[in-house]
Amino acid sequence: MVSNTPIESNYDRESELKAFDDSKSGVKGLVDAGLTKIPRFFHHPRPIINEPKSSTLQTQVDIPIIDLKETNARAEIVENVRYAAENWGFFQIINHGIPQRVLDEMIDGARGFHEMETEEKIKYYSRDYQKKFFYTSNFHLFTGDAASWNDTFLSVMAPQPPQPEELPPICRNIITEYSDQIMKLGFTLLELLSEALGLKPDHLKSLGCGQGLFVLGHYYPPCPEPELTFGANYHTDSGFLTIVLQDSLGGLQVLHQKQWVNVSPLPGALVVNIADLLQLLTNDKFKSVHHRVLAQKGTPRISVAAFLRPFHEGIESIVYRPIKELVSEENPCVYKDASLDEFVRLRRNAEGLDGKSALAPFKLDP
Ligand code: OGA
Ligand code: NI
Repeated sequence: MVSNTPIESNYDRESELKAFDDSKSGVKGLVDAGLTKIPRFFHHPRPIINEPKSSTLQTQVDIPIIDLKETNARAEIVENVRYAAENWGFFQIINHGIPQRVLDEMIDGARGFHEMETEEKIKYYSRDYQKKFFYTSNFHLFTGDAASWNDTFLSVMAPQPPQPEELPPICRNIITEYSDQIMKLGFTLLELLSEALGLKPDHLKSLGCGQGLFVLGHYYPPCPEPELTFGANYHTDSGFLTIVLQDSLGGLQVLHQKQWVNVSPLPGALVVNIADLLQLLTNDKFKSVHHRVLAQKGTPRISVAAFLRPFHEGIESIVYRPIKELVSEENPCVYKDASLDEFVRLRRNAEGLDGKSALAPFKLDP
């Protein structure tokens, strides 16, 4: 990695990371302590201040908004979904059927968790993926290039939901209610996406795309030096489909035609994006695109991301390959078979490489 910062021999990154992790109080803990300069391990190698202004669209372009109202013509909804999935990889949905109360309570529940008494909260701090629920800061703290300015809880909700006592009381009921609703909405979206591919409505469901669900509750504390780091560094998502609920602050951006486009908060809407495994299944027809979250001054930003992705034992050997109906002479198969196990391992190594697709290791002709 090229860096302009001279290497200081007295900078011990490993021990700073360890001290941060040992504190168990996350980025919020740093902010609560009144810090005015962010620790060096949050400095990104290519921070936003070094980006050309032209890389962020200042105009009114926004990702597609799709109205799922049941009285709308199905063919029209399917066509809108197809257009968005092929050209943007991202869209917002309105009239999706999840009541505003549930959305509001989910945001409040995530906020409530992150803002509870530190002594209570640190009991949930962990990096043990065997747990159904834990909270941490930066899943890749010790392996990633630079840390990002956020704390997150992870809750594995399907196919085996946690026992109620595994979930913190402050968000126990709402996580369960929200996840039930998201599973149903996820099925609806999988049907629409299947139809958008010219397949039977249950095709993606029959491949198990809607079986696993995990939920991340993100907390992006205000950042004293937002130009040096990110709330979430650019990445693609690993599963089939992600559904994001964001509060009204904004900061999520999507890479579209080499420019970063803001995903403007829209009250009551949910953001949907195609993830890597769905790009693979569709033989690149649907796009899993890079996105990121800016760090910001001001007030904390809350978002809740629900991932339709297998995340349970016994699935490591499932093999994914492009759907045969989508492969033809004009449209030859571009991916080799990938077991979920390989997929998780190889994509981690491929991540973070100058905007390269995390799917690169699975391409037949790299
Ligand atoms: C994610 C993600 C966006 C957000 O969790 O993968 O991209 O707005 N989240 O928090
Ligand atoms: Ni993401």
